[in-house]
Amino acid sequence: MLALSLWCCKKNEPTQTIVDKLYAEKYRPRFHFTPKEKWMNDPNGMVYHAGEYHLFYQYHPESLVWGPMHWGHAVSTDLVHWTHLPIALYPDSLGMIFSGSAVVDKNNTTGFGTPENPPLVAVFTYHNAAKEKEGKNDFQTQGIAYSLDNGRSWTKYEQNPVIGNPGVRDFRDPKVFWHEETKKWVMVLVAGDHAELYGSQDLKTWTKLSEFGQEFGAHGGVWECPDLFPLTVEGEETTKWVMIININPGAPNGGSGTQYFLGDFDGKVFSCDSKKSKTSWIDYGPDDYAGITWSNAPGDRKIFIGWMSNWAYAQEVPTDPWRSAATIPRELTLVRVNDSLYVRSLVSPEIQYLIEESKEYDQFTVNDSLELTTGIGFPISTSVFEGSVEAKDFALEFSNDLGQRIVIGYEAASNRYFINRKESGATDFSKTFAEDIFAPRIATNKKIKFTVVMDVSSAEVFFDDGLSVMASLFFPDKVYQRVKIRGQSGAVQVDHLTVGKVSPIW
Ligand code: FRU
Repeated sequence: MLALSLWCCKKNEPTQTIVDKLYAEKYRPRFHFTPKEKWMNDPNGMVYHAGEYHLFYQYHPESLVWGPMHWGHAVSTDLVHWTHLPIALYPDSLGMIFSGSAVVDKNNTTGFGTPENPPLVAVFTYHNAAKEKEGKNDFQTQGIAYSLDNGRSWTKYEQNPVIGNPGVRDFRDPKVFWHEETKKWVMVLVAGDHAELYGSQDLKTWTKLSEFGQEFGAHGGVWECPDLFPLTVEGEETTKWVMIININPGAPNGGSGTQYFLGDFDGKVFSCDSKKSKTSWIDYGPDDYAGITWSNAPGDRKIFIGWMSNWAYAQEVPTDPWRSAATIPRELTLVRVNDSLYVRSLVSPEIQYLIEESKEYDQFTVNDSLELTTGIGFPISTSVFEGSVEAKDFALEFSNDLGQRIVIGYEAASNRYFINRKESGATDFSKTFAEDIFAPRIATNKKIKFTVVMDVSSAEVFFDDGLSVMASLFFPDKVYQRVKIRGQSGAVQVDHLTVGKVSPIW
């Protein structure tokens, strides 16, 4: 849980008051990871080691907007309760510390540790702002740092950078993994409109292996924050490699988004199966960006977490004294649907640890609109809704007594899911925030399954067991206290609905 070394509050105040103030501010998520204060963007360096999940993140400790980047740091033993730790990496003469990853160097290939105490190695991008200002192109390079004390202190490698810049303006966000078949480290990073793969025996000397992507997928913006890992198709023997590429702008609902490709990887080249023009998205909503997966997670689970915002307005959202949250942890799996393969995102089961109490409903019909609030009996501003409904027009509406609301639902005529946040509360901080949000329906079942994860200022919606996913922020003046189901055009049959009350993590 939260360490109580809080620097923002007056001395001598009772501890409880301090905590309440800090984590009960207007708009403050109650069970999503947020920094105590100041600006955060991408999750970085997620690695599991010695019983702890490490979460680093792009952090500007001086301000509520982006600036010289550090790696903030937190740890958790269960993926939901986080302890804030001091900043792990500070800018130095080579530049700011941009996004990257971390690995456990189990065989001590770097020689930074010992076989008994293998090092944690962080691999990140140096962004040299002075060089950028001079109009040079080679201001982004890759560096490494290591820790021998479970990530509590870090030493930068004295011969950084380990990969110099080849003359490419956008050259960043290394994700590293051990490739057992070819017995080497593999790094995927992005270089503007494509990804590049590098190989190494010791994380210090790197050789370029291949490139991917110039002709594949979405190119409405710069490619950022890649990931590459294998997944076995559920219920089959087939294994495919998943290449995640974040892109900004150019996402389906504008601004930032996370696309993925499926293919094979032979230790050198990623050969993509997807059609060149086809773009698949991990999350179609506007507020899930820069997501990648944990390294070394127990059971080889692919646990994904994203930055729950969008560069289109991240620096303007009305939160204070912090800006930005991470998405909930999600588990990525690979499934075959009507002969095509898809990555789906499921709510990590750890979220169940937070459910204090729940209410279940079976078999009911919604004619026009059915208010559920009183029956549920607990506040719904932090809750999980899980249900199954026939595939007809329907919507869930969350609202407050000021008439502010967010509407989440399905539109049969266009076979799309939608989120409408036009009247959700504060929207005027951005020109685009109130625009319509859609995701295609991929599943063809007669029933729509859904999970809606509601926190004070966000909804994450997982339709059809995580095939069509959307994350969306909202900023109501009072938390949403009411919920109803609407049959949009005639009666709709609900098979079951479970509403769980989520307890706060701080
Ligand atoms: C993605 C990104 C990364 C970069 C970092 C800088 O949001 O632009 O490409 O490393 O943020 O903070």
